Amino acid sequence: MKKDKAIHQAADIIQRGGIVAFPTETVYGLGADAFNPLAVARIFEVKRRPYFDPLIVHVANPSKMRKLVKEIPSNARKLIEKFWPGPLTIVLLKEENIPDIVTAGLPTLAIRMPNHPMALALIEESKCPIAAPSANPFGYLSPTTAEHVRDQLGDQVDFILDGGPCPVGVESTIVSFLEEKPMLLRPAPGMFPKHYAPRTPIVLDWSEKNLDLYKDKNIGLLLFQEPKDNLKSQSVEILSTKGDLREAAANLFAAIRRLDALNLDLIIAEPIPEVGLGRAIMDRLRRAASRGK
Ligand code: TXA
Ligand code: MG
Repeated sequence: MKKDKAIHQAADIIQRGGIVAFPTETVYGLGADAFNPLAVARIFEVKRRPYFDPLIVHVANPSKMRKLVKEIPSNARKLIEKFWPGPLTIVLLKEENIPDIVTAGLPTLAIRMPNHPMALALIEESKCPIAAPSANPFGYLSPTTAEHVRDQLGDQVDFILDGGPCPVGVESTIVSFLEEKPMLLRPAPGMFPKHYAPRTPIVLDWSEKNLDLYKDKNIGLLLFQEPKDNLKSQSVEILSTKGDLREAAANLFAAIRRLDALNLDLIIAEPIPEVGLGRAIMDRLRRAASRGK
């Protein structure tokens, strides 16, 4: 289907109260008209997401925020000017008219303007803010391709807008402005430590000598960069051959999914330097590794 036609069809579905999976620069979202509580309720059902976990509302223009939140403090404004459109979500006091199901009854609303032409076109054409969590079953990895969404939620969503792989690959940073001092809620929300769990257990202690420890097991390796030794005998995913954090983030969830599909006993992951995007990657890896703990 041609891109414009697909966006048109997806927007039509949103306007009629349907749910649509769509690409953003971070991960695929599962969206509905934020002002249609029944449509939003279907998102929770399809994801099997607990109703106490609020959604992010996506806008195509910062000016659209005025009707959604009470007031925008100047430090929030500064961040918006610098980072929107982009992978930054801000939490502010919400306006009364936002349905409770969107915010899980909280007096606050999480908002962002995604930096993806298809997401922006979809929001514009739908003529409403779009409430959207990541388009995965609750507790699993976020999808970074349309294929990931199709595999896990395919027949339960009304439409999947295919925009290819997501360029960033990890979810937006969330900053709350409820107190005078802004608070970083993600990458360290701490609410659902097991949030990114694949089926296969992950341990975060890659080193060549550990391979011996697991020699009776069918293991896979999730490596940050090209290893020194030849490890062709293993199932190996390399996040970035040149050790680039952006490339690693963009590949992270798809690489874990590929390893998870191999029915391995264990995935051994190499820790990543915790600078810049490395912090977000390690946050996701730690949560993926906390399975069963
Ligand atoms: O990059 C992203 O943020 C993606 C794309 C689709 O935009 N969305 C995403 O949504 O990751 P989700 O629902 O998977 O994660 C949103 C997180 C949840 O942990 C939720 O608890 C938190 O945002 N959240 C939402 N509203 C909030 C609020 N009012 N206060 C605090 N946390 C909130
Ligand atoms: Mg999610």
